[in-house]
Amino acid sequence: MTGCYVRCVTPFTRELLSWFSANRRTLPWREARTPYRVWVSEAMLQQTQVATVIPYFTRWLTRFPTLEALAAAPLADVLKAWEGLGYYRRARLLHEGAKRVAAQHGGVLPTRYDELVKLPGVGPYTAAAVASLSFGEPVLAVDGNVKRVAARLFCLPGEVKVRDANARLTPYLPETEAGAFNEALMELGATVCTPRSPRCEVCPVSPHCGAYRAGQVARFPEPKMRKRVPRLHRFALVCKKDGALWLRERSQSEMLGGLWGFVLSETEPVGVKLEPVRHAYTHLKITATPVVVGAPPEVGAWVKVSELDALPLSRLDYKILEQVREMAVDKLA
Ligand code: ADE
Repeated sequence: MTGCYVRCVTPFTRELLSWFSANRRTLPWREARTPYRVWVSEAMLQQTQVATVIPYFTRWLTRFPTLEALAAAPLADVLKAWEGLGYYRRARLLHEGAKRVAAQHGGVLPTRYDELVKLPGVGPYTAAAVASLSFGEPVLAVDGNVKRVAARLFCLPGEVKVRDANARLTPYLPETEAGAFNEALMELGATVCTPRSPRCEVCPVSPHCGAYRAGQVARFPEPKMRKRVPRLHRFALVCKKDGALWLRERSQSEMLGGLWGFVLSETEPVGVKLEPVRHAYTHLKITATPVVVGAPPEVGAWVKVSELDALPLSRLDYKILEQVREMAVDKLA
Protein backbone atom coordinates (compact mmCIF):
# COMPACT_ATOMS: atom_id res chain seq x y z
CA MET A 1 0.00 0.00 0.00
CA THR A 2 1.27 3.47 -0.74
CA GLY A 3 0.63 6.47 1.49
CA CYS A 4 -1.40 9.62 0.95
CA TYR A 5 0.87 12.22 2.41
CA VAL A 6 -1.60 15.05 2.44
CA ARG A 7 -4.07 13.90 5.09
CA CYS A 8 -7.07 13.08 2.88
CA VAL A 9 -9.63 10.33 3.23
CA THR A 10 -8.10 7.59 1.12
CA PRO A 11 -10.07 4.68 -0.41
CA PHE A 12 -8.39 2.48 2.23
CA THR A 13 -9.73 4.65 5.05
CA ARG A 14 -13.19 4.89 3.53
CA GLU A 15 -13.48 1.15 2.96
CA LEU A 16 -12.19 0.31 6.42
CA LEU A 17 -14.59 2.74 8.12
CA SER A 18 -17.58 1.60 6.16
CA TRP A 19 -16.77 -2.06 6.94
CA PHE A 20 -16.47 -1.13 10.62
CA SER A 21 -19.77 0.69 10.77
CA ALA A 22 -21.50 -2.40 9.30
CA ASN A 23 -19.58 -5.00 11.31
CA ARG A 24 -18.68 -3.50 14.66
CA ARG A 25 -19.40 -5.80 17.56
CA THR A 26 -21.76 -4.64 20.27
CA LEU A 27 -19.51 -4.37 23.30
CA PRO A 28 -20.38 -2.85 26.68
CA TRP A 29 -17.69 -0.16 26.53
CA ARG A 30 -19.05 0.98 23.17
CA GLU A 31 -22.36 1.87 24.85
CA ALA A 32 -22.82 5.06 26.84
CA ARG A 33 -19.25 5.97 26.02
CA THR A 34 -17.57 8.17 28.61
CA PRO A 35 -13.84 8.85 29.00
CA TYR A 36 -13.83 6.85 32.24
CA ARG A 37 -15.46 3.82 30.59
CA VAL A 38 -13.00 4.02 27.71
CA TRP A 39 -10.06 4.25 30.09
CA VAL A 40 -11.18 1.27 32.17
CA SER A 41 -11.91 -0.88 29.12
CA GLU A 42 -8.61 -0.05 27.43
CA ALA A 43 -6.70 -0.84 30.64
CA MET A 44 -8.48 -4.19 30.86
CA LEU A 45 -8.13 -5.03 27.17
CA GLN A 46 -4.35 -4.84 27.16
CA GLN A 47 -3.05 -8.40 26.90
CA THR A 48 -6.55 -9.75 27.55
CA GLN A 49 -9.23 -11.06 25.17
CA VAL A 50 -12.49 -9.20 24.68
CA ALA A 51 -14.58 -12.20 25.85
CA THR A 52 -12.66 -12.34 29.14
CA VAL A 53 -12.94 -8.60 29.72
CA ILE A 54 -16.72 -8.23 29.21
CA PRO A 55 -17.89 -9.61 32.62
CA TYR A 56 -15.03 -7.84 34.44
CA PHE A 57 -15.92 -4.54 32.82
CA THR A 58 -19.59 -4.86 33.69
CA ARG A 59 -18.88 -5.78 37.32
CA TRP A 60 -16.30 -3.02 37.59
CA LEU A 61 -18.76 -0.35 36.47
CA THR A 62 -21.27 -1.60 39.04
CA ARG A 63 -18.67 -1.55 41.79
CA PHE A 64 -16.91 1.69 40.71
CA PRO A 65 -19.45 3.57 38.59
CA THR A 66 -17.41 6.76 38.42
CA LEU A 67 -13.82 7.82 38.47
CA GLU A 68 -14.41 9.37 41.91
CA ALA A 69 -15.78 6.07 43.22
CA LEU A 70 -12.66 4.31 41.98
CA ALA A 71 -10.36 6.95 43.47
CA ALA A 72 -12.09 6.64 46.86
CA ALA A 73 -12.00 2.82 46.98
CA PRO A 74 -9.39 0.91 49.01
CA LEU A 75 -6.71 -0.77 46.89
CA ALA A 76 -7.73 -4.23 48.17
CA ASP A 77 -11.24 -3.72 46.69
CA VAL A 78 -9.74 -2.62 43.38
CA LEU A 79 -7.48 -5.68 43.25
CA LYS A 80 -10.38 -7.91 44.22
CA ALA A 81 -12.43 -6.58 41.29
CA TRP A 82 -9.44 -7.22 39.00
CA GLU A 83 -8.74 -10.68 40.44
CA GLY A 84 -8.23 -13.21 37.63
CA LEU A 85 -7.42 -10.64 34.91
CA GLY A 86 -3.71 -10.86 35.72
CA TYR A 87 -1.08 -8.15 35.26
CA TYR A 88 -2.15 -6.57 38.54
CA ARG A 89 0.13 -3.63 37.97
CA ARG A 90 -2.46 -2.34 35.52
CA ALA A 91 -5.10 -2.30 38.28
CA ARG A 92 -2.81 -0.58 40.77
CA LEU A 93 -1.87 2.05 38.21
CA LEU A 94 -5.46 2.59 37.13
CA HIS A 95 -6.28 3.22 40.79
CA GLU A 96 -3.28 5.57 41.12
CA GLY A 97 -4.34 7.37 37.96
CA ALA A 98 -7.91 7.80 39.22
CA LYS A 99 -6.61 9.22 42.51
CA ARG A 100 -4.39 11.64 40.60
CA VAL A 101 -7.28 12.80 38.39
CA ALA A 102 -9.52 13.21 41.44
CA ALA A 103 -6.87 15.21 43.32
CA GLN A 104 -5.39 17.29 40.52
CA HIS A 105 -7.99 17.51 37.75
CA GLY A 106 -11.22 17.84 39.75
CA GLY A 107 -12.20 14.27 38.85
CA VAL A 108 -12.31 15.05 35.12
CA LEU A 109 -9.96 13.22 32.77
CA PRO A 110 -7.75 15.51 30.69
CA THR A 111 -8.85 15.60 27.06
CA ARG A 112 -5.52 15.76 25.26
CA TYR A 113 -3.03 12.99 24.52
CA ASP A 114 -0.11 15.02 25.91
CA GLU A 115 -1.87 15.40 29.28
CA LEU A 116 -3.30 11.89 29.44
CA VAL A 117 0.07 10.28 28.86
CA LYS A 118 1.41 11.90 32.05
CA LEU A 119 -1.05 10.00 34.25
CA PRO A 120 0.11 6.91 36.15
CA GLY A 121 -0.54 3.80 34.10
CA VAL A 122 -1.48 5.67 30.95
CA GLY A 123 1.06 4.79 28.27
CA PRO A 124 1.07 5.97 24.65
CA TYR A 125 -1.48 3.33 23.62
CA THR A 126 -4.05 4.09 26.33
CA ALA A 127 -3.56 7.86 25.97
CA ALA A 128 -4.14 7.61 22.22
CA ALA A 129 -7.16 5.34 22.66
CA VAL A 130 -8.80 7.65 25.22
CA ALA A 131 -7.90 10.84 23.31
CA SER A 132 -9.23 9.52 20.00
CA LEU A 133 -12.24 7.47 21.15
CA SER A 134 -13.49 9.99 23.71
CA PHE A 135 -12.32 13.31 22.37
CA GLY A 136 -11.70 12.70 18.66
CA GLU A 137 -8.04 13.71 18.76
CA PRO A 138 -6.33 12.45 15.60
CA VAL A 139 -3.72 10.17 17.16
CA LEU A 140 -3.14 6.54 16.28
CA ALA A 141 -3.53 3.88 19.00
CA VAL A 142 -1.19 1.02 18.18
CA ASP A 143 -1.76 -2.25 20.00
CA GLY A 144 -0.71 -5.78 19.08
CA ASN A 145 -3.62 -6.19 16.65
CA VAL A 146 -2.76 -2.98 14.85
CA LYS A 147 0.92 -3.95 14.59
CA ARG A 148 -0.06 -7.23 12.95
CA VAL A 149 -2.40 -5.48 10.50
CA ALA A 150 0.37 -2.99 9.64
CA ALA A 151 2.91 -5.80 9.18
CA ARG A 152 0.65 -7.40 6.55
CA LEU A 153 -0.55 -4.23 4.83
CA PHE A 154 2.98 -2.94 4.36
CA CYS A 155 4.98 -6.21 4.37
CA LEU A 156 7.02 -4.94 7.33
CA PRO A 157 10.05 -7.13 8.01
CA GLY A 158 11.25 -8.18 11.47
CA GLU A 159 9.54 -7.29 14.71
CA VAL A 160 7.08 -4.45 14.11
CA LYS A 161 7.67 -1.48 16.37
CA VAL A 162 4.92 0.96 17.41
CA ARG A 163 6.97 3.66 15.69
CA ASP A 164 6.91 1.80 12.34
CA ALA A 165 3.18 1.07 12.48
CA ASN A 166 2.56 4.70 13.42
CA ALA A 167 4.63 6.07 10.57
CA ARG A 168 2.96 3.83 8.01
CA LEU A 169 -0.64 4.21 9.16
CA THR A 170 -0.78 7.87 10.20
CA PRO A 171 -1.17 9.09 6.59
CA TYR A 172 -4.49 7.17 6.51
CA LEU A 173 -5.81 8.49 9.83
CA PRO A 174 -8.86 10.65 9.08
CA GLU A 175 -8.78 14.02 10.80
CA THR A 176 -12.38 13.82 12.01
CA GLU A 177 -12.93 10.11 12.66
CA ALA A 178 -9.77 9.05 14.42
CA GLY A 179 -11.61 7.08 17.12
CA ALA A 180 -13.56 5.00 14.61
CA PHE A 181 -10.40 4.46 12.54
CA ASN A 182 -8.47 3.18 15.56
CA GLU A 183 -11.28 0.91 16.64
CA ALA A 184 -11.78 -0.31 13.08
CA LEU A 185 -8.12 -1.36 12.86
CA MET A 186 -8.33 -3.12 16.25
CA GLU A 187 -11.55 -4.81 15.17
CA LEU A 188 -10.04 -5.90 11.87
CA GLY A 189 -7.07 -7.39 13.73
CA ALA A 190 -9.29 -9.13 16.27
CA THR A 191 -11.89 -10.58 13.91
CA VAL A 192 -10.46 -10.79 10.36
CA CYS A 193 -6.70 -10.21 10.25
CA THR A 194 -6.15 -12.73 13.03
CA PRO A 195 -2.75 -14.16 13.98
CA ARG A 196 -3.47 -17.60 12.52
CA SER A 197 -5.75 -18.28 9.54
CA PRO A 198 -6.61 -14.67 8.68
CA ARG A 199 -9.88 -14.40 6.75
CA CYS A 200 -8.58 -12.47 3.75
CA GLU A 201 -11.62 -13.53 1.70
CA VAL A 202 -13.82 -11.24 3.81
CA CYS A 203 -11.25 -8.52 4.47
CA PRO A 204 -12.51 -5.08 3.40
CA VAL A 205 -8.99 -3.83 2.65
CA SER A 206 -7.36 -6.86 1.01
CA PRO A 207 -6.99 -4.98 -2.32
CA HIS A 208 -4.70 -2.55 -0.42
CA CYS A 209 -2.77 -5.24 1.42
CA GLY A 210 0.82 -5.75 0.31
CA ALA A 211 1.11 -9.23 1.81
CA TYR A 212 -2.20 -10.36 0.27
CA ARG A 213 -1.35 -9.03 -3.15
CA ALA A 214 2.00 -10.78 -3.04
CA GLY A 215 0.43 -14.04 -1.81
CA GLN A 216 2.62 -13.74 1.28
CA VAL A 217 0.12 -13.31 4.12
CA ALA A 218 1.52 -16.29 6.04
CA ARG A 219 4.95 -14.61 6.08
CA PHE A 220 3.81 -11.56 8.06
CA PRO A 221 4.30 -10.60 10.80
CA GLU A 222 7.68 -12.32 10.88
CA PRO A 223 8.14 -14.47 14.00
CA LYS A 224 9.63 -12.76 17.06
CA MET A 225 12.74 -14.06 18.71
CA ARG A 226 11.36 -15.77 21.79
CA LYS A 227 13.03 -14.56 24.96
CA ARG A 228 13.86 -17.25 27.44
CA VAL A 229 12.13 -16.44 30.69
CA PRO A 230 13.68 -17.35 34.04
CA ARG A 231 12.21 -20.29 35.92
CA LEU A 232 11.87 -19.98 39.67
CA HIS A 233 11.28 -22.66 42.22
CA ARG A 234 9.76 -21.72 45.55
CA PHE A 235 8.21 -23.45 48.53
CA ALA A 236 4.79 -22.19 49.57
CA LEU A 237 4.43 -22.39 53.33
CA VAL A 238 1.01 -23.77 54.23
CA CYS A 239 0.12 -23.34 57.87
CA LYS A 240 -3.38 -23.83 59.17
CA LYS A 241 -5.22 -23.60 62.45
CA ASP A 242 -8.92 -23.74 63.31
CA GLY A 243 -10.19 -23.15 59.78
CA ALA A 244 -7.66 -20.37 59.17
CA LEU A 245 -4.58 -20.16 56.94
CA TRP A 246 -1.44 -18.14 57.46
CA LEU A 247 -1.16 -15.66 54.58
CA ARG A 248 0.75 -12.50 53.85
CA GLU A 249 -0.19 -9.28 52.11
CA ARG A 250 2.55 -8.63 49.56
CA SER A 251 4.12 -5.21 49.72
CA GLN A 252 3.65 -2.75 46.85
CA SER A 253 7.26 -3.04 45.76
CA GLU A 254 7.21 -6.79 45.14
CA MET A 255 5.66 -8.83 42.41
CA LEU A 256 1.87 -9.23 42.87
CA GLY A 257 2.08 -6.29 45.30
CA GLY A 258 -1.10 -5.66 47.27
CA LEU A 259 -2.34 -9.20 46.75
CA TRP A 260 -2.54 -11.72 49.55
CA GLY A 261 -0.92 -15.12 49.28
CA PHE A 262 1.05 -17.92 50.86
CA VAL A 263 4.50 -17.07 52.15
CA LEU A 264 7.04 -18.22 49.56
CA SER A 265 10.45 -19.46 50.58
CA GLU A 266 13.58 -20.20 48.58
CA THR A 267 14.72 -22.78 51.09
CA GLU A 268 12.98 -26.05 51.70
CA PRO A 269 11.12 -26.11 55.02
CA VAL A 270 10.42 -29.19 57.12
CA GLY A 271 6.91 -30.45 56.52
CA VAL A 272 4.57 -32.46 54.33
CA LYS A 273 5.03 -31.70 50.65
CA LEU A 274 2.04 -31.43 48.33
CA GLU A 275 1.93 -31.56 44.51
CA PRO A 276 3.84 -28.64 42.99
CA VAL A 277 1.83 -26.03 41.11
CA ARG A 278 3.05 -24.10 38.11
CA HIS A 279 2.22 -20.67 36.83
CA ALA A 280 3.59 -18.74 33.86
CA TYR A 281 3.85 -14.97 33.86
CA THR A 282 5.13 -13.03 30.84
CA HIS A 283 8.53 -12.50 32.41
CA LEU A 284 8.98 -15.65 34.48
CA LYS A 285 7.73 -19.14 35.14
CA ILE A 286 7.28 -20.28 38.69
CA THR A 287 6.90 -23.69 40.26
CA ALA A 288 5.71 -23.60 43.85
CA THR A 289 5.73 -26.67 46.03
CA PRO A 290 3.25 -26.27 48.87
CA VAL A 291 4.63 -27.60 52.16
CA VAL A 292 2.42 -27.98 55.22
CA VAL A 293 4.49 -26.62 58.09
CA GLY A 294 3.90 -26.81 61.83
CA ALA A 295 4.41 -23.17 62.82
CA PRO A 296 3.59 -19.96 60.97
CA PRO A 297 6.46 -18.04 59.38
CA GLU A 298 7.35 -14.64 60.80
CA VAL A 299 5.41 -12.28 58.59
CA GLY A 300 1.72 -12.70 57.92
CA ALA A 301 -1.66 -13.13 59.54
CA TRP A 302 -4.31 -15.76 60.15
CA VAL A 303 -7.07 -15.51 57.60
CA LYS A 304 -10.26 -17.51 58.09
CA VAL A 305 -10.93 -19.68 55.05
CA SER A 306 -14.51 -18.41 55.13
CA GLU A 307 -13.14 -14.86 54.69
CA LEU A 308 -10.77 -15.65 51.83
CA ASP A 309 -13.32 -14.63 49.22
CA ALA A 310 -13.07 -11.02 50.32
CA LEU A 311 -9.30 -10.82 49.74
CA PRO A 312 -7.51 -10.39 46.41
CA LEU A 313 -5.44 -13.50 45.67
CA SER A 314 -3.27 -14.29 42.65
CA ARG A 315 -3.86 -17.23 40.32
CA LEU A 316 -0.75 -18.91 41.72
CA ASP A 317 -2.20 -18.74 45.23
CA TYR A 318 -5.54 -20.10 44.06
CA LYS A 319 -3.68 -23.03 42.52
CA ILE A 320 -1.88 -23.64 45.81
CA LEU A 321 -5.16 -23.36 47.67
CA GLU A 322 -6.67 -25.96 45.37
CA GLN A 323 -3.83 -28.35 46.19
CA VAL A 324 -4.32 -27.73 49.88
CA ARG A 325 -8.03 -28.43 49.58
CA GLU A 326 -7.61 -31.43 47.29
CA MET A 327 -5.12 -33.13 49.54
CA ALA A 328 -7.66 -32.76 52.32
CA VAL A 329 -4.79 -32.23 54.70
CA ASP A 330 -7.48 -31.28 57.11
CA LYS A 331 -10.95 -29.82 56.88
CA LEU A 332 -10.14 -26.21 56.17
CA ALA A 333 -13.48 -24.54 56.36
N1 ADE B 1 -8.99 -3.97 22.03
C1 ADE B 1 -8.46 -2.87 22.56
N2 ADE B 1 -9.32 -1.85 22.54
C2 ADE B 1 -10.46 -2.33 22.00
C3 ADE B 1 -11.72 -1.78 21.73
N3 ADE B 1 -11.97 -0.51 22.03
N4 ADE B 1 -12.64 -2.57 21.17
C4 ADE B 1 -12.35 -3.84 20.89
N5 ADE B 1 -11.19 -4.42 21.10
C5 ADE B 1 -10.26 -3.68 21.67
